[in-house]
Amino acid sequence: MDPAIALHARGALTDAELEGLHAAAFDHEPGTTPWGRRLTDHSLTWVTARHDGRLVGFVNVVGDGGVHAILLDTCVAPDVQGRGVGRALVAAAVEQARAAGCHWVHADYEPHLVAFYEDACGLRPTAAGLVRLT
Ligand SMILES: CC(C)(COP(=O)(O)OP(=O)(O)OC[C@H]1O[C@@H](n2cnc3c(N)ncnc32)[C@H](O)[C@@H]1OP(=O)(O)O)[C@@H](O)C(=O)NCCC(=O)NCCS
Repeated sequence: MDPAIALHARGALTDAELEGLHAAAFDHEPGTTPWGRRLTDHSLTWVTARHDGRLVGFVNVVGDGGVHAILLDTCVAPDVQGRGVGRALVAAAVEQARAAGCHWVHADYEPHLVAFYEDACGLRPTAAGLVRLT
């Protein structure tokens, strides 16, 4: 990864900068998601990536209070993608979950991200299920 990009576990961020990053990466209109409150209230940890102070990457790690952790909202700014930031974010998140005593890190992803999560990040495929509630 570009050495100018710094990763921080539980890194400080504002709601507006994470919403902007998320909207750019997932291609949606920015909203008013209360990220800071969600993270402090519900996350085991999270990892930020910054380049010259700009938030360019993020991954959220939600825990069950036991041995399971789930990766959510992995994202890298479109103009910074393909430079190893996503892989480094997931590796840091896995190490944070390990340090917190977790035994398992879960993620679900669409088929086009198999190369990222499995080949680049080392997750192994498993059967999983999902129910859409809305
Ligand atoms: C998925 C994402 C986080 C990857 O971040 P990144 O910094 O571009 O990834 P890396 O540079 O660390 O890529 C590592 C490897 O993963 C693979 N990869 C990365 N992004 C990929 C993508 N979008 N599709 C398929 N493979 C991908 C590549 O094989 C790459 O290997 P290479 O370095 O030999 O080219 C980023 O593309 C992103 O933010 N996408 C939009 C949001 C999203 O879909 N997030 C996932 C939610 S489950």
